[in-house]
Amino acid sequence: METIDVGVPIERHVGEDRVALTPEVVKRLSERGLTVRVASQAGAKASFSDEEYQKAGASIVPQEQALGCNVVLTLRTPIDEDLGHLKHGAVLIGMLDPFDKVNASRIALAGITAFALEAAPRSTRAQALDVLSSQANIAGYKAILIAAHHYPRFMPMLTTAAGTVKAARVLVLGAGVAGLQAIATAKRLGAIVEASDVRPAVKEQIESLGAKFLDVPFETDEERDAGLGSGGYARAMPKSWLARQAALVHERAKQADIVITTALIPGRLAPTLIPVETVAAMKKGSVIVDMAASRGAKYEGNVGGNCPLTETDKVVVKYGITIVGFSNLAAMIPSDASALYARNLFEFLKLIVTKEGAVNIDLDDDIVAATLLTREGQLLRKI
Ligand code: NAI
Repeated sequence: METIDVGVPIERHVGEDRVALTPEVVKRLSERGLTVRVASQAGAKASFSDEEYQKAGASIVPQEQALGCNVVLTLRTPIDEDLGHLKHGAVLIGMLDPFDKVNASRIALAGITAFALEAAPRSTRAQALDVLSSQANIAGYKAILIAAHHYPRFMPMLTTAAGTVKAARVLVLGAGVAGLQAIATAKRLGAIVEASDVRPAVKEQIESLGAKFLDVPFETDEERDAGLGSGGYARAMPKSWLARQAALVHERAKQADIVITTALIPGRLAPTLIPVETVAAMKKGSVIVDMAASRGAKYEGNVGGNCPLTETDKVVVKYGITIVGFSNLAAMIPSDASALYARNLFEFLKLIVTKEGAVNIDLDDDIVAATLLTREGQLLRKI
């Protein structure tokens, strides 16, 4: 039987500087007998040259040929023109927005089999291929660097002959993978950090990083139950708890110099954690980095994030507060983000490509079943 070929096209979304495979992983796939075709310049923005891919065993091809392979690896859903180049029955693997119905229908229409890696379960076995974690980790780090860049003061405390500078106060809302990395990075820069989450299980993790946990104790069984989340993820919290959390966040945000918000609930709009009144009450010159940008509710015709004033992919100043709304922070560290993503893909490929180099979709495997979005054009996930 002929072995499959694996294609790596150029990512064509604005600001998407990552590439699905790095030369390191191309080498590992080539050693397993797979043919890898990388679109010319696909890795350029992530600092991987065509020559490096070639040395690792790939052939460098035009974009259409990379898209015409049996298995196509991407970061995001290809733009329509590129989707049109996929072969009927080809396998597409990437971060394909499994909760976005319109996008899923576009993929189904292309007549392909598609795996949306974000839908993998948060289990121990799935850790090595967990793209949400690998990319959120990078994004959480970058969020602090961007905040420090826009913040008009110093991050650490500084004692000089000219006097003392106070350490910055950083408030992190949502302590999942991105939030915990933001906490760790802010601590390394010398800031004083506090953090909040709906899941009380994160208290220990926050404290082990040297930050303070802002506790909003549960008062009813309904609140306790919602706080347990599902599948490791947060659930929408009852109004009573959210009101108490909002009051505490409002007070802490007034004291903060930098606020990083990361709160997401899969398949739902991101909760509003920093309402307009809170922004207005913050100290002038403070910075908000809203990692839920583009995923929140609409406010005055604009799609916000955890803050309604956030504007997607922009830096705006409102009420004297700088609000950063970059929606793809991981792509701003494209080389390492690609390196981790490529390793995630390698681990996933091991589940669907046999030793003989053929595709085998085993629906008894919970990771394969959870991530399978379409099969030969048929939409499989209930969205
Ligand atoms: P996420 O990106 O879906 O959400 C970010 C954070 O926001 C979460 O910690 C969530 O609890 C929090 N949040 C939601 N609503 C909030 C609100 N109203 N106020 C404050 N915080 C709020 O989360 P992420 O980073 O994807 O992690 C989700 C879960 O998966 C976590 O429990 C994490 O520990 C777990 N996980 C498990 C892995 C594994 O075992 N393979 C790997 C990575 C994460």
